[in-house]
Amino acid sequence: MVTFVHVWKEYRRGNIVIPALRDVSFHIDQGEFCALMGPSGSGKSTFLNVIAGLDQITAGDILLEGKSTTGFSDADWTKRRREFIGMVFQAFHLVPGLTAAENVGLPLLLSGKAPNMVWQRVAETLEAVGMQHRAQHRPGELSGGEQQRVAIARAVVHRPRLVLADEPTGNLDSHNAAEVVALLRRVSREWGQTVILATHSEAAAREADRRYLLRDGELLAPSPLPTPP
Ligand SMILES: Nc1ncnc2c1ncn2[C@@H]1O[C@H](COP(=O)(O)OP(=O)(O)OP(=O)(O)O)[C@@H](O)[C@H]1O
Ligand SMILES: [Mg+2]
Repeated sequence: MVTFVHVWKEYRRGNIVIPALRDVSFHIDQGEFCALMGPSGSGKSTFLNVIAGLDQITAGDILLEGKSTTGFSDADWTKRRREFIGMVFQAFHLVPGLTAAENVGLPLLLSGKAPNMVWQRVAETLEAVGMQHRAQHRPGELSGGEQQRVAIARAVVHRPRLVLADEPTGNLDSHNAAEVVALLRRVSREWGQTVILATHSEAAAREADRRYLLRDGELLAPSPLPTPP
């Protein structure tokens, strides 16, 4: 589903080169849930951003469902993101002036889907994340955990085959964090979605089928699951 073939990503600042990903090879199958761990600055966000085409790699290749993305134009990446990828971030990035339902429906409306279909799908998705009773609330009227559930609904409303979650529990207490990870797990099972979760949290990573560790941009082999406390 996603394959990295000797991927390098370097950022340049003047004549300083910062290698954010160093010769990373990786593969995840459809429906798998994997956690990407590693200290701050190790390259986790970069790893997710290059899969989504928000950043371009310097060398190597990324295959999405077996197809090379080398030579993808901005328009190709935008189309890929719209149809194939859902993203969840630490800061929920909901639009403050819109209700929960409108936030979730916006991407579908913008991609030209018929409003009837959109509101039906929004209702189903809010139901799946347990937020249907807050559909008419604005983000400012929701708790952090609730906002993240709405953000997850928005990320999966188009039923993307791949969900990329960048530290989605970073702003949440441990109870809400556990709920958000359980929710990602559940939507992945229910809709067969592949999930890559970047996290500092051992508790979150424990839910994954596989865990990977990044260190200074190098991907270490899958690490064994930690034993529960
Ligand atoms: N736009 C950029 N320009 C220059 N360097 C960057 C840029 N984005 C990231 N970097 C550098 O690339 C490296 C990897 O950053 P990245 O954000 O991927 O780390 P991370 O593992 O997500 O960290 P955190 O856990 O703090 O979110 C870091 O050294 C960072 O300073
Ligand atoms: Mg990061």
